[in-house]
Amino acid sequence: MARRKKIYEGKAKTLYEGPEPGTIVQYFKDDATAFNAEKKDVIEGKGVLNNLLSEYFMLGLGQVGVPTHFLKRLNMREQLVRSCEIVPLEVIVRNYAAGTMSKRLGIAEGTQLPRPIVEYCYKDDSLGDPLVTEEHIAAFGWASQQDMDDILSLALRVNDFLSGIMYGVGIKLIDFKIEIGRIYDGDFQRLVVADEISPDSCRLWDIKTEQKLDKDVFRRDLGSLTDAYSEVARRLGLMPNNPASITKPTLIN
Ligand code: CDP
Repeated sequence: MARRKKIYEGKAKTLYEGPEPGTIVQYFKDDATAFNAEKKDVIEGKGVLNNLLSEYFMLGLGQVGVPTHFLKRLNMREQLVRSCEIVPLEVIVRNYAAGTMSKRLGIAEGTQLPRPIVEYCYKDDSLGDPLVTEEHIAAFGWASQQDMDDILSLALRVNDFLSGIMYGVGIKLIDFKIEIGRIYDGDFQRLVVADEISPDSCRLWDIKTEQKLDKDVFRRDLGSLTDAYSEVARRLGLMPNNPASITKPTLIN
C-alpha cells in the first residue's frame, strides 16, 4: 500500500494528505512539549485521549452550529478534517487568571475575571508566539476587520459551549486556546474552528478541589498527565467508569 504523504509535522500532531481533495488526516502523537519545546517528553496514551476529547468537543460545537474543520474520527489516533488555511493567530479566551496573564498583570492564578477576556498571539514559535493587538493584526494583514469580528464571535461561542459542558462535569474552564481556519467555497471564505480542542490547549480545574486536569500537570510536574486527561474523558462519559469491570467477549454458541 502506498504510504500517505506527510504534509506537516508539528509538536503534538502530524498531518497527512487525506483520501479526498480538501481533506487532511490529523494524527495525534504522544509527544508533550512545553515552554516553546524546551521541555519535552513522550506520554503514552496522550494522543489517543486528545483524539477522543477533540472529537467530542468539535462534534458538540457542530451540533450547536459552530463551524469546525472536523469531519470524522478514523481510528484511535487519527481524525479526518477539512483542509484549511490557518489564520496565523492563537486565539486565547480567559475566564480566570492563570499562566502568562497572571505573570504579566500580577493577578493571582484562579482569580475570576470580570468577563471573558480574548487575547491574540502571533503564531510564530521562533518568536515564542508574542501577544499582539488588533492594530498589529490589521496593519500586517493577518486578518481583516470582518475576520476579527467573526473570530471574536466564534471564540466567545466556543467559550460558552465549553464552559457549560465542563461545568456540568464539575470542571472549571480557566482558559483555552483555539486556532481558526479559512475554508474557501468559490469566491467566498468561511472561518471555522480548526486544529484541536483538548486538555493540551485548555486549563481545566476541578471545581471543588482546584486540582489541575490539563497540560499544567506536565508543565509543572504535578503528577500523571494521562491520569488527568483520562479523568476529563471519564467525566464526559468517554471512558468506561471501571475498566476492571470490562469482561472479555463471551463466545455465543
Ligand atoms: O500556557 P502558557 O502559560 O504558556 O500561556 P497562556 O497564555 O497562559 O495560555 C493560555 C491558554 O492557552 C492555556 O490554556 C494554554 O494551554 C493555551 N495555549 C496553547 O494551547 N498553546 C499555546 N501556544 C499557548 C497557550
